[in-house]
Amino acid sequence: MENEKGASSSTFKMGNSAQERSLPYVPHCYAVPPSYEPRDALDSKSESVPTIDISRLKGSDDERRGVIQEIRLACQSFGFFQSILDDALAVAKGFFELPAKEKNKFMSNDVYAPVRYTTSLKDGVDKTQFWRIFLKHYAHPLHRWIHLWPQNPPEYREKIGKFCEEVRILSLEIMGAITESLGLGRDYLSSRMGENGMQVMAVNCYPPCPDPKTALGLPPHSDYSCITILLQNLTGLEIFDLTAHDGSGRWVHVPEVKGVLKVHIGDHVEVLSNGLYKSVIHKVTLNEEKTRISLASLHSLGMDDKMSVPCQLVNDENPVRYRESSFNDFLGFLVKNDISQGDRFIDTLRIKD
Ligand code: OGA
Ligand code: NI
Repeated sequence: MENEKGASSSTFKMGNSAQERSLPYVPHCYAVPPSYEPRDALDSKSESVPTIDISRLKGSDDERRGVIQEIRLACQSFGFFQSILDDALAVAKGFFELPAKEKNKFMSNDVYAPVRYTTSLKDGVDKTQFWRIFLKHYAHPLHRWIHLWPQNPPEYREKIGKFCEEVRILSLEIMGAITESLGLGRDYLSSRMGENGMQVMAVNCYPPCPDPKTALGLPPHSDYSCITILLQNLTGLEIFDLTAHDGSGRWVHVPEVKGVLKVHIGDHVEVLSNGLYKSVIHKVTLNEEKTRISLASLHSLGMDDKMSVPCQLVNDENPVRYRESSFNDFLGFLVKNDISQGDRFIDTLRIKD
């Protein structure tokens, strides 16, 4: 066993990854480069993460205006806020507790597969591996995809399906508020994100790690989505506050508050805002004792529908700063690039001055 310590990524393909086997040590290819700063520069002043009760979006016009102002500030300063909903973690945990045979039915390295079970980011391929096991599946329209989801645990489809539906309604509400905060109006994207939008669920499991200082659950990255709504059972998510320390930034630990969802904006809102709102860089740290489960719901336009900078936001001082792109373009990027080494989709969209 010990000789696997120095083995390369290709030894740890799905079904055989160190995290699935709960190896008692962390192989070298899981050691994250020092530039990730896994522990340093962490600021534990987590109360600085804005919390917004978005149920007030359905209130009086005044109330709604107040919430939209809060969302505008949260997006500008942090690109991140929290809102309230209920819990769908048990059934996800149940899935990862199933015997390998059951989970391996969904095993795939094809990023285009509508349902896939795998490990790390691209297991055995990326230079650095991550201590993560995950199931990713499409979720909208539900009737088109749900029959492809796991049938075990028996309540998986029902419980995750309900969660997806609720979270999707919330995502449309929040996107309406975001487009309104940009002066584009509440319905700017409603049909493109509504009936025709994509919802991708990442059901993540981070087993206990024997050496959490060496490895990471996920490297610093931003999501391709417009917004991502995330539920976690334990802390571990950290987000990068770009504005701290006069622009040099700092990592902020996101506290776990029961029944609270984390919402962060992705690359496609950065494009939509022509750079006024920045997509949130986040990463996942590990712990030695407990299994961490997270449900990340990624919301975007349809598969081939391209997000571009709205002409309303372009003028002499503000030229178009991003190229247009779709979810499908992101998948193409994913195949060719190594997020574990810091490659970012948004960097490929930026138009240099
Ligand atoms: C993701 C992600 C965070 C988490 O799936 O893109 O960032 O806490 N997940 O699992
Ligand atoms: Ni992410």
